[in-house]
Amino acid sequence: MKITIVQFAPIFGEKENNIEKIINYIKSDSADIILFPELCTTGYFFTGRAELSPVAEYREGEFCSEMKQLAVERNIIIIAGFAEKAADKIYNSCGLFFPKPEYNSIYRKTHLFYKEKFSFEAGDTGFFVVDYKEWDIRIGTMICYDWRFPESARSLALQGADLIVCPSNLVTDVWQNVMSARALENMVWLAVSNRCGTESRNGEELVFKGNSAMYDTYGRQLGICSADNEEALTIEFQPHTSRNKSFNEFNDIFNDRRPEYYK
Ligand code: ACM
Repeated sequence: MKITIVQFAPIFGEKENNIEKIINYIKSDSADIILFPELCTTGYFFTGRAELSPVAEYREGEFCSEMKQLAVERNIIIIAGFAEKAADKIYNSCGLFFPKPEYNSIYRKTHLFYKEKFSFEAGDTGFFVVDYKEWDIRIGTMICYDWRFPESARSLALQGADLIVCPSNLVTDVWQNVMSARALENMVWLAVSNRCGTESRNGEELVFKGNSAMYDTYGRQLGICSADNEEALTIEFQPHTSRNKSFNEFNDIFNDRRPEYYK
């Protein structure tokens, strides 16, 4: 199975242009799974709900409908971050769109980072895994800052994730220290799609650090994008290898757990 991790710089507030770019990436790619960054339709650094609301959309909206249709037409899994309206709330969400639309799902970011707290509601879906039986792959999602909580990846792995996807807008360098550990300690495949570029709002600039990457079940980095260019990284992987949690004949990292001692 192949996954393409897309790293690009959405233009703040220019949803139509960003979506056009996303569609072009999808149409020019031939991997089975294509992964885009957090909030890739709108940009990231919103100053508040009033500014965010006009570009956020309901799950029945244009973006999700377009992705839903493309996933079916092209027989691929599309995973992309977007600002999701739901009643009077807006979530920092990630849509997962499958060739069989009955599997389509939306994850809402659990842990909000920095000034996201002015614009978004903390997610209420919790961490879940989609067991896509048609291809026998189990996919779990965490978004960006969720990585700082080892419980995020752990919870997904304990639910059986083969592949954890992490659409991101990472602005620090510290995540580089632990992504490989998240893959290794859970023996899962881990794909990080980060954005690049900068956004300035009210005199404050955020620099997004790129370096989108893929890790195998031993935490080895299989490929990495540059820090600041738009690019796509395609990696072949074998989802099933994540289901064997042993690394020698005596140790299995899930069977060896002793939760009664984890206070
Ligand atoms: C982040 O959660 N966007 C850093």
